[in-house]
Amino acid sequence: MDMYKWDDRLKVNHPKIDQDHKLIIEKARELSECMMRGQGKEKIVQTVDFLNKYVKTHFEEEEKIQKKHGFPDLEAHQKNHRYFIEQLGALTIKIKEDPNSSKNAIELNKLIAGWFINHIKRMDVEVAKHLNK
Ligand SMILES: [Fe+2]
Repeated sequence: MDMYKWDDRLKVNHPKIDQDHKLIIEKARELSECMMRGQGKEKIVQTVDFLNKYVKTHFEEEEKIQKKHGFPDLEAHQKNHRYFIEQLGALTIKIKEDPNSSKNAIELNKLIAGWFINHIKRMDVEVAKHLNK
């Protein structure tokens, strides 16, 4: 799999949301690379904890923006966010148990490349469209 990275095509044209997405993608990649490289547990635990916290705060902020602007698909969008938080949470437990597992690193990459990036392209873009109406 090509390693995912942030690029301008992922922009939804909301500065704070774009900044958060970029940071989440970059942190996840850093985490995956640390795991593959056999980095020490402390750094990996610190990075994965940061990622979980940041994702939660980001989703909360995004949902607040949606509510404030009367976004019609809020419920479906929230459900999608919850799903990701659950998946990331379950994977985090496995990562902490085995910080240098390449299987866990691949699972993380799939979650980011397969889910998070698709979520931006499919769902967050719709939010941005609504905001710009
Ligand atoms: Fe979202």
